[in-house]
Amino acid sequence: MEKIDLRLLKTRAEKEIEKSRSLKELDGIFKKYLGKKGEITQLFKSLKKLPEEKRAKIGREVNELKNFLKIRFDQKVEEIKEKIKRETEEKEWIDITLPGKKPVLGHLHPLTLVKRKIEEIFQVMGFKIVEGPEIETEWYNFDALNIPKEHPARDFWDTLYLKNSKLLLRTHTSPVQIRFMEKNQPPLRIIVPGRVFRHEATDASHEINFYQLEGLMVGKDISAANFRAIIEEFFKRFFQKNIKIRLRPSYFPFTEPSFEVDISCLVCQGKGCPACAHSGWVEMMGAGMVHPNVFKNSGLNPKFWQGFAFGLGLDRLVMMKYKISDIRLFYSGDLRFLNQF
Ligand code: PHE
Repeated sequence: MEKIDLRLLKTRAEKEIEKSRSLKELDGIFKKYLGKKGEITQLFKSLKKLPEEKRAKIGREVNELKNFLKIRFDQKVEEIKEKIKRETEEKEWIDITLPGKKPVLGHLHPLTLVKRKIEEIFQVMGFKIVEGPEIETEWYNFDALNIPKEHPARDFWDTLYLKNSKLLLRTHTSPVQIRFMEKNQPPLRIIVPGRVFRHEATDASHEINFYQLEGLMVGKDISAANFRAIIEEFFKRFFQKNIKIRLRPSYFPFTEPSFEVDISCLVCQGKGCPACAHSGWVEMMGAGMVHPNVFKNSGLNPKFWQGFAFGLGLDRLVMMKYKISDIRLFYSGDLRFLNQF
């Protein structure tokens, strides 16, 4: 084995390493020289055949060559990796000056918008917002409100009862009157917004579930005149104009006397349309002076206290405000409808 061979081998290997363009190619070159059957590995094996004096010297030289090439390989690997990185970075370059994609923002449901507006108006008038459970007992939904079990008045509320239990889905927000007065002494002013349920056939103005807003004001001398003043003021602030109101005598077991409050239909200006069942008037709320039995059932003495209560249909109010002719649109989830708000 001649010295010249090693020098030639070195230049040849160096050149090949230098020229290689990919890690795969480089790996091939590595195997060719330093792999199991590589040229340099073979050299090491052939050392054995050399005479003693030459073996040590040439052995050292081959070893140096091996180490040298290893370093060159490592350097080249780094170089290629660096190049790949640069190229992908160039490919993945992002133009941050381009306008972004706008995220689709949701918004409040018209029922929620109106609920908040009503709450605001009543809060300004000194009413407190209270809530109650949607699943009720017969006691709070009926008995405590002066509607005993076999009384025909129960038929006013087509009720959804829960299977195998005495519980039901509340048919109105009135149970919260009792719940609140049990725990709070008058004078008091509350409103109770909430979801209620009826076992009813649906049409343009009826749904199986809808929203009500209960009102209750109790004191030493709260009268029906106070009711009328407050409710007129409410409608005025809500619609931001004077609204025609009509009070009709009515019947509710938990108020005495009772009345129905209508406003002239704002969808058709009183001419008659599906939203007002072609009558020109829309029933907005039931109301009346709190029945003595309701006070008794809440633990209050009807000799000391009197007041009014009302139950407002939230859906109907929203329909009037935005001139919507079908209540079912609120619960349809139809974005063509909802996106208009
Ligand atoms: N709770 C009655 C209903 O749902 C409405 C009402 C409330 C009437 C308060 C009078 C007083 O029909």
